[in-house]
Formats: sequence, structure tokens, C-alpha cells
Amino acid sequence: MAALSFEILAKDESGYARRGRMQLPHGIVETPVFMPVGTQATVKSLTPADLTDDINASIILGNTYHLMLRPGADLVEKMGGLHQFMAWERPILTDSGGFQVWSLGELRKIEQHGVRFRSHIDGREVFLGPKESMEIQRKLGSDIVMAFDECTPYPATLEEAEASMQLSMRWAGECREHLPAGDTQALFGIVQGGMYPELRLQSLEAIAAIDFEGIAIGGLSVGEPKQEMMGMMDALAPHLPEDKPHYVMGVGTPDDLIEGIDRGIDMFDCVMPSRNARNGTLFTDDGKINIKNLKHFDDERPIMESCNCYTCKHFSRSYLRHLYMAKEILSSRLNTLHNLHYYCDLMHRARTALEEGNWPQFRDQFLQRYRGEA
Ligand code: GUN
Ligand code: ZN
Repeated sequence: MAALSFEILAKDESGYARRGRMQLPHGIVETPVFMPVGTQATVKSLTPADLTDDINASIILGNTYHLMLRPGADLVEKMGGLHQFMAWERPILTDSGGFQVWSLGELRKIEQHGVRFRSHIDGREVFLGPKESMEIQRKLGSDIVMAFDECTPYPATLEEAEASMQLSMRWAGECREHLPAGDTQALFGIVQGGMYPELRLQSLEAIAAIDFEGIAIGGLSVGEPKQEMMGMMDALAPHLPEDKPHYVMGVGTPDDLIEGIDRGIDMFDCVMPSRNARNGTLFTDDGKINIKNLKHFDDERPIMESCNCYTCKHFSRSYLRHLYMAKEILSSRLNTLHNLHYYCDLMHRARTALEEGNWPQFRDQFLQRYRGEA
């Protein structure tokens, strides 16, 4: 059987939003979906049981870059693969390392066949290119493998963005050669092109010409104004192949997700809900709250009245503020449980709206309230 099959169950006829279902070797993923980030073979502070029973995450993300350096792909393979190593039975998508290597800044050097960089852990020199990334993700055994790309920095001139995009397109073809269509793992190509719509369209054409199981949009949320990010998604939306899942990488806030779905995006990942949770920032339908704020000192209410997460069912804002101020480890855990539950449940609400044919109303109501305009 193919590693990935994708069907569209409902569509918003006024735009690009769709409700789909993806079948992967480790299970079914209902889309639109949010994928919690588990960089180092763990979604920080949570157990797999938290993720399945409380958050109902259907797929999580892992990182080639971090796992290749520590504990090493060979060890993960020896331990039975990433699923068995971390005791996560549902699907996993692994990012290719392109983006994480790019984040190293001065420590890296881009060559024809990949990137030479120094490990942020022990300073040793490492080389990662399309071939190496495919080999590592093979050893990790993820359901979805990402092509090895270069995330174009922001800002970039047209010439810089074009050269970077062309390099990523060449690497995309090499990735497909190393992990051919029909494999037990699915491979997604990544559209680049900086903030230039004409480059984005050229890149999409190149990616669509290769037989990838899914199409990702990279190089967004890299410091550009929100309007530019939405502009890139607007440019691509009419041209994304309908029969394949669409994934926008590293995005974003709850309103970004709703705006992304409206532009035909099916899959999202972002460190924001988990990272912000540990800093005391919590997401609600009325926007973000900061739990360390004095106004929560004696607030008996949960983070969000309508939330069904473990945290909201049991604890007051007052208690959560106390845990945060006292630097208790339970603070990170309870805050992460809420934020990831909120993100995954928001996708569930979006799926329901699409099924019931009231996506435009849901979208407008959500955005107004989230942005404090209601
Ligand atoms: N995560 C967020 N943006 C990117 C990107 O452009 N490329 C990859 N590989 N991962 C990402
Ligand atoms: Zn909650």
C-alpha cells in the first residue's frame, strides 16, 4: 500500500478551505491538523499518553538535525525506530534539518551537495545534504519525510532568493531519487522563493512536477510582516495541486492557522503553543493571556471556560500563576497541556465547521473574537 493516501471529505465552495483525511502507516490523520513539535523525541513535558488521551494529537513532528547529533540516527534505528524509541504509536513527520541548520547562522557553510556545519552541542563538524537527510529520516522511520531544503533568509534580494530557491529545487529532486515514490515512507517537497510571488510560483511548479506525496510551503514566519506571509499563501493557493496535502511549515498563531486553512492549508506545526506555555503565555478564544500577570493572583476561573483540557477542568488561573511564580515544573506541564489541547481542538472546530458548511461564519467569528474586535 502507498505510504500516504489523501481524500477530501468536504470543501468550502467560497474559497480554498478543505476538510480531508490522510492515511499513513501509523494511522489516520484528519485535516486540517496541527502537529505538536517533539524536536528531541519528546514533546517537552508531556507523555505520549497526555498527547493521545488528553490532547488527541494525531501526528507529531520530530527533527532530523537534533536527533542526528544526539542520540544519533543509528542508535534510534537500533532501538527500533523513533516510534518505538519514544513510545509514540501514531504518525510522525520529521523535518529534514534544512531549517535547523539555517538557524545556526555563522556556524554553517553551504556547498553544492549540502551544508557543512558545527554541532551546537560539541562543536564537531557535520555534513548534511539531501542524501544524508534521506538516510537519517529512513533510520528514524517517520511516516512523512521532508525534503532537504534551504530556508531563504529574510530579507533577501531577488537574486539571492532565486539562487537559494533553485538550490532547494535541485535538492528536492535528489531527495526524491533517494526516497522514490512508492516507498513505505511518504516524501513532501518544500516550496521556497522568499517573499517574491513569481519565485514562489516557479518553485511550486518545480515541486509539483516531481511526484511528491505532499506539498509544503517553507521560508515563512522568518521575520517578515504578517501581511507578506499571507500574500505568499494567497499567491500559491489557486495553484496548489488539489489532490495532495498542503503543509505550511513553522506557522503560527491561532489566527494564522485559521487564515492558513482559508488559503487551502491542511497541516501546520509550530513551537509556539509549547514554547510559550513554558513562558506562561496561554492561548484562548479571546487572545493570549500571560499567567504571571498580577490580575490572575486570586482569579478562580480556569484559563478558558469552554476548554475541556485537564488543566482547565481542574485548576484556577490563580493556582497556575502560583506554580509559574514558584518555578514549579508542573507549571510547564499544565500550561503545555492547555495550549496544545487548544491548538488541536481549534483544528477540530475548523473541521466541524467545514463539514457543516459554515466555514466562512466560523472563520469570521473566530478572527473577530480572537483579535478583540467582537
Ligand atoms: N520549518 C519552518 N520553515 C521551514 C523551512 O523553510 N524548511 C524546513 N525544512 N523546515 C522549516
Ligand atoms: Zn484548557
